[in-house]
Amino acid sequence: MDFQAKTSLGGLVALTTFIAGPFAANAQNLDVDKLYEARCAYCHGEAVELVRSRLVMRDGRVLGRKSGRRVKEFLSYHGRLRDDEVTMMIEELTRRLEDDQGLEAR
Ligand code: HEC
Repeated sequence: MDFQAKTSLGGLVALTTFIAGPFAANAQNLDVDKLYEARCAYCHGEAVELVRSRLVMRDGRVLGRKSGRRVKEFLSYHGRLRDDEVTMMIEELTRRLEDDQGLEAR
């Protein structure tokens, strides 16, 4: 492939990403529950169980309750998620943990 062909291909990829990006991001946010159902639930059951029984929030981070492990790093090799899916999942777990702690504090 000569230089000009590569450049226009690069341009096309950039353009496609630019147009599809915001839509893809939106679709992903809606789908975190489905992602959990598809990739995690068959081993962990309901997300609420996983969150309550196994996870804690400390210094703004989601950690394994017993292991003290940083779940964000753990999920980079556990559960077969892509990097962007790990980010989504951590955001969701964080939100649920914060909600839970709010309830407990009442
Ligand atoms: C094939 C079964 C299986 C699947 C699928 C699976 N897990 Fe796990 N998970 C386990 C087992 C077994 C453990 C306990 C072993 C360990 O702590 O290393 C575990 C542990 C965990 C922990 C606790 C970590 C800690 O340090 O205590 C979290 C959080 C977790 N999984 C999240 C997920 C998420 C999120 C998904 C989906 C993306 C997922 N898992 C998919 C089997 C699974």
